Amino acid sequence: MDNFQFWSPTEFVFGKGTENEAGKYVKKHGGTKVLLHYGGGSAIKSGLIDRVRKSLSDNGIEYVELGGVKPNPRDTLVYEGIDLCREEKVDFILSVGGGSVIDSSKAIAMGVPYDGDFWDFYTGKSPEAALPVATILTIAAAGSEGSGDSVITKEEGGLKRGAGSDLIRPRFSIMNPELTCTLPPYQTACGATDIMAHVFERYFTNTEEVEITDRLCEAVLMTMIKETPRVIADPSNYQARANIMWAGTVAHTNIVGVGRQQDWNSHGIEHELSALYDCAHGAGLAVIMPAWMEFVYKHNVMRFAQAAVRVWGCKMDFENPEATALEGISRFRSFLHSIGMPINFEELGAKKEDIPALVEKFGIGDGRTGGFVALSAADITEIYNIAANASL
Ligand code: NZQ
Ligand code: ZN
Repeated sequence: MDNFQFWSPTEFVFGKGTENEAGKYVKKHGGTKVLLHYGGGSAIKSGLIDRVRKSLSDNGIEYVELGGVKPNPRDTLVYEGIDLCREEKVDFILSVGGGSVIDSSKAIAMGVPYDGDFWDFYTGKSPEAALPVATILTIAAAGSEGSGDSVITKEEGGLKRGAGSDLIRPRFSIMNPELTCTLPPYQTACGATDIMAHVFERYFTNTEEVEITDRLCEAVLMTMIKETPRVIADPSNYQARANIMWAGTVAHTNIVGVGRQQDWNSHGIEHELSALYDCAHGAGLAVIMPAWMEFVYKHNVMRFAQAAVRVWGCKMDFENPEATALEGISRFRSFLHSIGMPINFEELGAKKEDIPALVEKFGIGDGRTGGFVALSAADITEIYNIAANASL
């Protein structure tokens, strides 16, 4: 196991009705003037925003609102949010929604106290200050409610890039699984795929002797395999929703990834797809992640065989561990298909002829990137090709 530092300061407030306590928690965490940030309408339609407004008012907290965050959140709304916060002297940002709203809030939070362009933080600069951010989560997926990450798309040129800092870890996250019951099955499945991908990106490592995090990863994956079909069959299943919601947070605070090398190439390769086609991040991952696995598994067949046996329940073929490894990957793809995810370019709405442009935008030139296996541009081209042509 490698040395590590892990800081997860978020207060998680979990369960039925907890959104009605939003005002109390803003007060507890020092907010006096709030930016209430939300998405394209689901939280208004469900009455959630009204309940949050009431809770803020009941606690004497002033607020201004900025709705309209789109999935794959854009820089243009972030600039608007930064201006609004400065004009209104906002000192706290409350995001109501999913990863897109939360990430937009985090970008605004870093941008407000910064003299330069907030995009600098998405091209390598570290922030020195940020407004406090908190969340009321409405979809189990990105894990942004407990992470120090934010992913934003620059409209001009369609660049999707990430920023990371402990300064943007949420102060509190309110998580009521009931709020996720209005999610359409497709969006639920996209979220489940993202959660599983967050674990796999950490599971495939070259670090040895990481039994504790291996086992934590396996627990999250097995929970997702059990619970996802239950919510697809019955969207109002509270207990299954609750298990998935917490799994999504555990998958991405990094508690399942500490002390080990990680590999985020599948996410990087996917981000080019959601930037170009504006598809859901989870759907893009359903196409890319098994393809990445098929490309890299030979690097450590036994680790893939371990996942196949422990997570997917495959029987270990001691004569031919490679067959076991491949069976695990195949079970993953079949599982994704069974919950309604696309498994190749055609099903995703992507085009093979765009592959050179996707690789170009990935932007590694003659270099290599990745932890488990460092990939060249030619390798990434091959992964897109495997993804384009995948079948069950
Ligand atoms: O905008 P509204 O109307 O709210 O609709 C949203 C949106 O269309 C809808 N939705 C959310 N909650 C709902 C609901 N519909 C009905 N009932 C509800 N309760 O779902 C759609 C997707 O929402 P979005 O926030 O985009 O989903 P998700 O949480 O999957 O976030 C995706 C974004 O997060 C980034 C992704 O790249 C993508 O941009 N990621 C962020 C990470 C992070 N910050 O740590 C890590 C991830 O790997 C990921 O890259
Ligand atoms: Zn993700």
